[in-house]
Amino acid sequence: MQKLIDEAIKPYEGEKGSLIPILQSIQEKCGYISEDAFSVIAQRLKMSEHEIYGVATFYTQFRFTRPADHLIKVCLGTACHVKGNSLNLNNIVNMIGIKEGEVTSDYRLGLETVHCLGACALAPLATIDEEYYGNLSPRKLEKILSKYTKGKAGIKDEESKKKKD
Ligand code: FES
Repeated sequence: MQKLIDEAIKPYEGEKGSLIPILQSIQEKCGYISEDAFSVIAQRLKMSEHEIYGVATFYTQFRFTRPADHLIKVCLGTACHVKGNSLNLNNIVNMIGIKEGEVTSDYRLGLETVHCLGACALAPLATIDEEYYGNLSPRKLEKILSKYTKGKAGIKDEESKKKKD
């Protein structure tokens, strides 16, 4: 992590007004702005951590907690809700042991809900990273998630489809 932070700062060293590009670069390389990153930036730019934090939190683009390796998004829009996606959400919560907005302790999976994934014809629907999993059933869900929880990332379900509508 320290090396990535150094790499992110190096091109901007000595440049005035470089705080935002440095924060963007760190987030791009590390996925978020850690406490360590604030400390290193403060030393290099000769600013207080408090000042940097104040600037960083002004912008919604910056994250301050480590994101999950894989993000599950469960749609609770009208079409998905009508087709029972709340039950699928409950099943996911039970299977991976986290609630909406949380990340597993090993940072492998995160869980969010959304209001429409733009593929209502596939309802009920969830995505994991960029992959769409439509017509979800408890059995299908179990199969999909078991592959992630067993450490096989990047699975593809035969029935999963890319965004179409
Ligand atoms: S309501 Fe779920 S994809 Fe549109």
